[in-house]
Amino acid sequence: MASLSLSAVPTTPLSSRSSPLFSKTSTHRFNVSCNSSADENPKLILPKSTSLNVDRRNMLLGLGGLYGAASLTNIGSASAFPVTAPDNIADCVAATDGVRDPDKAIRGTACCPPKLSDSIPPDYVLPNFPQLRIRPPAQRVDDDYIVKYRAAIAAMRALPDEDPHSWKQQGKIHCAYCNGGYSLEMNGLPDVKLQIHNSSLFYPFHRWYLYFYERILGKLIGDDTFALPYWNWDNPTGMMLPAMLAPVFDDRGNPNQLLNPLFDPFREVKHLPPAIVDLQYRGTESGLDCIDQINTNLSTMYSQMINQTTDTFFGTNPGDDGKGTPGSIENGAHTSVHIWTGNSKMPNREDMGNFYSAGYDPAFYVHHANVDRMWHVWKGLNPLTNKDPIDDDWLNASYVFYDENRQLVRVYNRDAVDVTKMGYDFEPSRTPWINNRPVARVKASNVAAQSVGVVKKVEEMEFPVKLDQTVKVLVKRPSTKRSEDDKKKANEILFLNGIKYNGQQFFKFDVLVDDVDDGIETTAASSEFAGTFAQVPHGLGGEKMFMTTGRAFVINELLEDIEAEDDEYVLVTLVPRAGADDATVSEIKIQLVPTE
Ligand code: C2O
Repeated sequence: MASLSLSAVPTTPLSSRSSPLFSKTSTHRFNVSCNSSADENPKLILPKSTSLNVDRRNMLLGLGGLYGAASLTNIGSASAFPVTAPDNIADCVAATDGVRDPDKAIRGTACCPPKLSDSIPPDYVLPNFPQLRIRPPAQRVDDDYIVKYRAAIAAMRALPDEDPHSWKQQGKIHCAYCNGGYSLEMNGLPDVKLQIHNSSLFYPFHRWYLYFYERILGKLIGDDTFALPYWNWDNPTGMMLPAMLAPVFDDRGNPNQLLNPLFDPFREVKHLPPAIVDLQYRGTESGLDCIDQINTNLSTMYSQMINQTTDTFFGTNPGDDGKGTPGSIENGAHTSVHIWTGNSKMPNREDMGNFYSAGYDPAFYVHHANVDRMWHVWKGLNPLTNKDPIDDDWLNASYVFYDENRQLVRVYNRDAVDVTKMGYDFEPSRTPWINNRPVARVKASNVAAQSVGVVKKVEEMEFPVKLDQTVKVLVKRPSTKRSEDDKKKANEILFLNGIKYNGQQFFKFDVLVDDVDDGIETTAASSEFAGTFAQVPHGLGGEKMFMTTGRAFVINELLEDIEAEDDEYVLVTLVPRAGADDATVSEIKIQLVPTE
């Protein structure tokens, strides 16, 4: 049976140590051993950091601005309001968005919360916290912690269903906010559904969700320091489903929820420990061995955490149609972990593989504790440039939750930007991916120039273009002679607008720049990999439910690494990976976006 062990070994300090951005982790590397048996012990030094990478990084830091916040005006629709969840939760309707076949919704679509009073939910005021709750990485907790956590979940499961603190009601929150339980009636748009995914509402909504969930659990066991664990999937030591969630078997050999209340029957059996999570999961096994899987995961984290602007990291605000665009992690590692955990044998990949059911698996909260940590970590990477959105529409967007005293309250994004003000923090865990800058697979071959005449230019292409097969297109760059100063002032961004897809199924495609057809697959470990677009299904079975969004990829560093900075055109390749048969893209372009 494969096993994974890891130890941190101090190595020679890198020359970039003086940089505030990298000093935290660059003095260590990891020795990871993926053992296929106890007597075999192949060692791998991670990450592959070369002096070239380090030098370039210094150069980038010297330039500044590349990690900067930019406001993108090119994707997402303009928003003229802060999204406001209804005061009256009784206006909630069955969360049937996309549900044409409710019979297949084994978890049910009646996701509205119980109404306990007629009063308007007051604005929530963050209390003063005498002591912070410290969220630990799930792979490092001791037995006492697991006993306590299981007791809290058992107590929650034992509450009557109608109690807003019950297991079922907590799970329903996700379904109501995702599958159309609420509308934008308070924004004067009663026919538009409130949707907290695929937009900049994603991080703050889930932060508040976990905030109350954690406090309710603490209250149930009389421990107001209780903190949720996080599933540390960005670190090799945490890349398995946390062991505490795995089934515990009774005398007859059946998994028993009474023995482990953190067990959920609707999970992919082949992904129980010691399977290593695939942060680029396509719905089928990657076939990578343990070492390559870990490396690809770390490169994935690099590509989704580094070189992000505020807009590409958070996504953009919903517009009048209720739709925004997703950020890098939401649309990347977050989706992969959902789909990878859900049971492929269930009609809707319940529980984690579908938004309507995800809240019923304890893994959801452990997963989202790490998503929440990514927000916190990202800001810490470079506090000068990695900033929260500052526009009023984002700051004043609000949701309603039952607090730990069963009082319905209204909470705002603006109060969710600082975890310590919310009374918790994360026990630190290394972020080795910070050194996993991808490496160019093919260099300096001017791939785009060689494709002229073979591949269409964007202006010759008919849009929307179908994604049922690989799409190749030459895209003109706004400028080829960008000085260091120009780069400081503006990011070069690849926009895919009007991505339309069937939201009933898992959908994923990869985006490559200047990729050559040589039979070798380009993965996240290669510079040519600009990123991925991956969606958790929003609906169930039955007829198609089309959704539209966009996505933006910062490509400054990519262009440097593949030595394409002087090229007039780049070759953009979209590779469908799952559920893309009905998908189309209506615009592909590269623009310069000021860093402000
Ligand atoms: Cu509300 Cu992981 O999704």
